[in-house]
Amino acid sequence: MRILIISDIHANLHALRAVSKHAEGKYDRVACLGDIVGYGADPNGACEWVREYCATTIRGNHDRACIGDAVVQDFNDNAQLACAWTLQELTEENRQWLQNLPAGPLNVLDGGKEDFFICHGSPRDEDEYITDKMTACSLFSSMPGNVVFFGHTHWQGGYRIAPGRAWEMLPPKPTDADRLHLFDPDKGYLMNPGSVGQPRDNDPRAAYALFDSEDRMVRLCRAEYDIQGAQKAIIDAGLPSFLAFRLGEGI
Ligand SMILES: [Fe+2]
Repeated sequence: MRILIISDIHANLHALRAVSKHAEGKYDRVACLGDIVGYGADPNGACEWVREYCATTIRGNHDRACIGDAVVQDFNDNAQLACAWTLQELTEENRQWLQNLPAGPLNVLDGGKEDFFICHGSPRDEDEYITDKMTACSLFSSMPGNVVFFGHTHWQGGYRIAPGRAWEMLPPKPTDADRLHLFDPDKGYLMNPGSVGQPRDNDPRAAYALFDSEDRMVRLCRAEYDIQGAQKAIIDAGLPSFLAFRLGEGI
């Protein structure tokens, strides 16, 4: 099975459509790791795309915040403003759909026998950020399977982990041709596809991953998209201008 893994869309439909086009013909199903809304100007468009095309979807902290969950109190001012705006914009149908999204970890293949899972933050806590090797290796005993895809940090990359050890798995300058082999059944693999709609790893292109569950290969990919269009939509919506600025910088 070839799976398109997407995360942290953040209501950026310009980026989401570019990813869909960039990955066209290279996948059989789509899994979404949450944060579909929040920050960007098209929450309903993003929800409707995910509802139509994603076979497996879990919630992110912004999905919860944008429908009124108390987690919003932990957000900075720009994120809180964006959540309040999103709550007004969402149709009742999309709001209810977001409310009913499951938390991870969830099996990518609908309870199949494969051990590939998705979560938003980490396998032990949907709000935890995995940003370093020490955090990654501390998760070894919490791994629900050999391979876990996670989001939340908006940084593309990953870790191979063992008790007390972790190795980073991001090539220095990844290209679409780079394939990472998740080959070792005695290790754990934590892989982050990056953010579709608000990358923060200094590369403003939309990020995603392609995973082939038969040969256990992951490709970390980037797609150029109409960043100016997404920025204009944010400004036109009256959302904070910093949310537009950061898309151009990848921060
Ligand atoms: Fe996010």
